[in-house]
Amino acid sequence: MHKNIRPIIDPSKPKVYIETYGCQMNVNDSEVILSILQDEGYVLTDNIEEANIILANTCSIRDNAEQRVWGRIDQFRIQKRKRDGVIIGIVGCMAERLKTKLLEGHEVDLVAGPDAYRSLPQLIRDITPNSPQINVLLSHEETYADISPVRMDKNGISAFISIMRGCNNVCSYCVVPYTRGAERSRDPETIVREAQELFDNGYKEVTLLGQNVDSYFWKDAENASKNVNFAQLLEKVAKISPELRVRFSTSHPKDISDEVIYTMAIYENICRHIHLPVQSGSSIMLEKMRRKYNREWYLERVDKIRSVLPDCGITTDVIAGFCGETEQDHQDTLTLMEKVVFDSAFMFAYSERPGTLASKKYPDDITYEEKTRRLNEIIALQGRMSLKSNEKEIGKQLKVLVEGPSKKNPNELCGRASSNKMCVFPSKGEKPGDYCTVEVVSVTSATLLCKRID
Ligand code: SAH
Ligand code: SF4
Ligand code: F3S
Repeated sequence: MHKNIRPIIDPSKPKVYIETYGCQMNVNDSEVILSILQDEGYVLTDNIEEANIILANTCSIRDNAEQRVWGRIDQFRIQKRKRDGVIIGIVGCMAERLKTKLLEGHEVDLVAGPDAYRSLPQLIRDITPNSPQINVLLSHEETYADISPVRMDKNGISAFISIMRGCNNVCSYCVVPYTRGAERSRDPETIVREAQELFDNGYKEVTLLGQNVDSYFWKDAENASKNVNFAQLLEKVAKISPELRVRFSTSHPKDISDEVIYTMAIYENICRHIHLPVQSGSSIMLEKMRRKYNREWYLERVDKIRSVLPDCGITTDVIAGFCGETEQDHQDTLTLMEKVVFDSAFMFAYSERPGTLASKKYPDDITYEEKTRRLNEIIALQGRMSLKSNEKEIGKQLKVLVEGPSKKNPNELCGRASSNKMCVFPSKGEKPGDYCTVEVVSVTSATLLCKRID
């Protein structure tokens, strides 16, 4: 097995500093990048002042995600003035989207897209002050299946495993299919091996990642009976040990299958949590967004989940003010949220992304003020729904995986229940990675306050 699952510490070696933006897949990609660079003799630093290479692993999902990175590039340039030979690299989705534009007058030395990380060592070697290097080729095969990510999480208890890359869905508002390319699934054997390796190294939780995990499919070259779908993959990982929790994200409402829901029901260690982004409660908006389901379909999937897994946490993403969204469409989103009572939600104002179908076909015609008003209504409603959802937990007994001391009180621990809800409870000296059984006594919209019953 891979020898260095955690970052190497060696002050004599050249240092790389990595800032990560965007989704969990980017967090895992940064771990792949570190693995590749560690093999080249670089070690990780969290101090930008001593870095030889400064990398930003970037996100393009909304305009403000990119604006933040532009601001950071200005800061990185200050480092370059202070010391000789500092390399500034922009990698990830923004690198893929903007390509050579990132090299124009910004003192960036290196641009690499999400499928080009294997070429980083060569690109770095080829950099000279007058020749920045770029590789933004997308691939139909690359899954980094053979690379063991070097884990950068703090605790050593919970890790991400990418099971696929890219996306074939082309939702009309979304830039991901352009920045990440076509969907491809990773060899299940390498996924199970990676999960086993994490478990052997003391990890207690893995999260299987993909833009649309339900469409995971591994086609065996010789034997169709060895094909693996997402439900089967979940089962393989769950079987590693009942002590290893399995999570996954993101599920697409059009694709989440009964087989996945029933597989969750069989294995207690597959966590009762589904992140199921609805985007809008209006069937008219969903059609324009090209989500390929409507309001009724979404509500049926929620009913199905709750009938099989009554305690399953359901969380979502919502976009406010998509092109042509009427007050009625907005109200449809609010009524859907009230009906479902999501545990929590990521909520965004629509941001037009160049090159997407929506940017070509539909005017971004909801004013900033109006988008903000709708978004604020959505956020306020979700606050009430989160509280309502948490109140239903009062009196329940939950198994919690300890993450560490609670932020507010060092005599208390915090950790997540199977549903992904955050619990706080008195410590009896447990360590991160231990399991505790607790009973919910009171709640806020963000946290379950619990007593010990073990
Ligand atoms: N693959 C996941 C989503 C990945 S992007 C899925 O299909 O559910 C994460 C979230 O960002 C999306 O669910 C959506 O709510 C939001 N998002 C994507 N593009 C956006 C845009 N142009 N403007 C605002 N929010 C956007
Ligand atoms: Fe974007 Fe849709 Fe793919 Fe999600 S499923 S990444 S929203 S195109
Ligand atoms: Fe952002 Fe790319 Fe993830 S655009 S959300 S980092 S796939």
